[in-house]
Amino acid sequence: MPQLLTEAQLSEAVEHLRQGELVAFPTETVYGLGALALNPEAVAKIFAAKGRPSHNPLIVHVREAQAARELVTAWPETATRLVERFWPGPLTLVLPRAAVVPDLVTAGGPTVALRSPAHPLAQQLLAAVQAPLAAPSANRSGQLSPTTAAHVLASQLPGLDLILDGGPCSGGLESTVLDLSRPTPRLLRPGLVTLPELEALIGPITVGAVDAATLPSPGLLNKHYAPRTALECADDADELNFLKNLYETAGLKVGVLTLPADPRTASRELFARLHDLDAAGFDRVLTIWPPEEPAWMAIRDRLRRASADE
Ligand code: TXA
Ligand code: MG
Repeated sequence: MPQLLTEAQLSEAVEHLRQGELVAFPTETVYGLGALALNPEAVAKIFAAKGRPSHNPLIVHVREAQAARELVTAWPETATRLVERFWPGPLTLVLPRAAVVPDLVTAGGPTVALRSPAHPLAQQLLAAVQAPLAAPSANRSGQLSPTTAAHVLASQLPGLDLILDGGPCSGGLESTVLDLSRPTPRLLRPGLVTLPELEALIGPITVGAVDAATLPSPGLLNKHYAPRTALECADDADELNFLKNLYETAGLKVGVLTLPADPRTASRELFARLHDLDAAGFDRVLTIWPPEEPAWMAIRDRLRRASADE
């Protein structure tokens, strides 16, 4: 699978974006649904296509740190350290927004989320369009994130007629979201960059949503990333087998999600396996909770939300 676009494909994508249209593109985490971040009409199309509530802000994708600094009013020294180590890569930083960033992107809030994606095609696109791109995951709101161009195609997002295929995403889980806009850094969404990796660089980090009075990260809402088929997590193999027998005795078709033992591989394959299990027509999917360890934190988070009742 080619990781880069031909000149003709690239100019078509750039032209599309400059006309205020949507373009889905690969990143190293998941596929993004992109539009010019500084063009409110274009950004509005993202919300319409996903059926995304307007109170859920978007991540803005930039080529490198200098482009990010133009979109914020403060750039703490911790940000410099983090981007030197993790950009381009699966780390999103939340910082005080500059006035150029449209309200729609930030959901009217005082901060903007920024990241520089590592996928060569995403970098190629950002370099050619020479503008920041707002891009949530390219799925309908609340559903599984896409890790292949075929997943994006299958979700049939209205208003999306250009999908750039850069092969399966190497990371497979959405970026780590870290809020640096207040005195103590706060982890809003666990991802491929782990908590210990971040803390080793910048010291203690608070985990989880802020109080209800401030803007939450809707990625922290309970029900999210949900497959259509009900998912249930067991504590161990015994419990899984018990549940499997129980459901099968009741006449249900039960699928089992088995995750690779290595957390990197498991991250890469989680959404793809859930997409496949969804397509297979099971009544229920069972899996076993991975270990309660930092390397599994993001996967446990996605499983917890995919299996939440609401
Ligand atoms: O890996 C990723 O981050 C992918 C790829 C496409 O880059 N994008 C992605 O976007 O996962 P999305 O929209 O599905 O998730 C963005 C998350 C949401 O949980 C949103 O609430 C949070 O980031 N977020 C965005 N802006 C924020 C802000 N200003 N403050 C707090 N949370 C924010
Ligand atoms: Mg998403």
